[in-house]
Amino acid sequence: MQTGEPSRTALGAAVYRAHHQVSDAGRIFHDPLAVPIIGGMPALTDSFFDRDTDGRIRLLVAARSRFAEDALAEAVAAGTEQAVILGAGLDTFAYRNPHPRLRVFEIDHPDTQAWKRKRLHEADIPVPPSITYVPIDFEHQTLDEVVAATDFDPARPAFVTWLGVTVYLTRPAITSTLRYLGSMTAGSQLVLDYAEPVIPATPEEHAAAEFRKQRLSQINERWRSFFTPPEMAAELQHDGFDVVEDLGLAAATIRYTGAPAKTPERPGPHVLRAVVRG
Ligand SMILES: C[S@@+](CC[C@H](N)C(=O)[O-])C[C@H]1O[C@@H](n2cnc3c(N)ncnc32)[C@H](O)[C@@H]1O
Repeated sequence: MQTGEPSRTALGAAVYRAHHQVSDAGRIFHDPLAVPIIGGMPALTDSFFDRDTDGRIRLLVAARSRFAEDALAEAVAAGTEQAVILGAGLDTFAYRNPHPRLRVFEIDHPDTQAWKRKRLHEADIPVPPSITYVPIDFEHQTLDEVVAATDFDPARPAFVTWLGVTVYLTRPAITSTLRYLGSMTAGSQLVLDYAEPVIPATPEEHAAAEFRKQRLSQINERWRSFFTPPEMAAELQHDGFDVVEDLGLAAATIRYTGAPAKTPERPGPHVLRAVVRG
């Protein structure tokens, strides 16, 4: 991220969600605040860091939010009353929260968080009293020290999402966060996404990867950390989690569109759900 500036990729992800509402009628992930929070639909090329010619990235961004909110609803039904949204960006769950007893802790970089709160104000989106904002820089602070200053209760189960963030962090920042999360009360859950290392197979894939790399480098939000599924599973296992489910893009496409994936499963983005072992 640029010093003193909010995350530009947070705007990019929010534009994909808004685009999904407009172009796909929100059929995977219905979010009535997705367009208002970005202040209306911008020209689509303005905020994108990928050439999403086949709509795969839009599908992924919609699917990971749906996956997370479905899992959260199940956790709430089972009694969870604390949700933690790490690297929240312009995620709107907390402002649509349908669960009356659920507290929501939005934890993000202070520059992104300040910008989001301004965006909410400008869009006239009310901030319910169930939300607590917690600033963090994952590279320089630990999650336990920042949540210690809040009324988050580590003795009670929590549901944590960490979407669109791990790829931008260093491995030590990721592992220290996962270690804290794995120490939460048994039965607490985590939904996160991560990127598998990819070697472009065709000239088109190579050009697309170079395009993204250049755009991300211009805004100082480079992709820094990659995991294979076995590496991520081993890291989570080591930190105290059991992985319940790990979906690649093809599996997510089938689940949420009912259509066969355009390409077979291959290295790429993943979203997973894990639970803290008893
Ligand atoms: C691509 S956005 C994803 C936002 C949101 N989760 C979503 O899916 O729309 C990346 C998020 O990671 C946060 N982030 C990146 N580096 C960070 C750091 N070192 N400390 C705290 N947050 C960071 C940004 O502020 C931003 O909110």
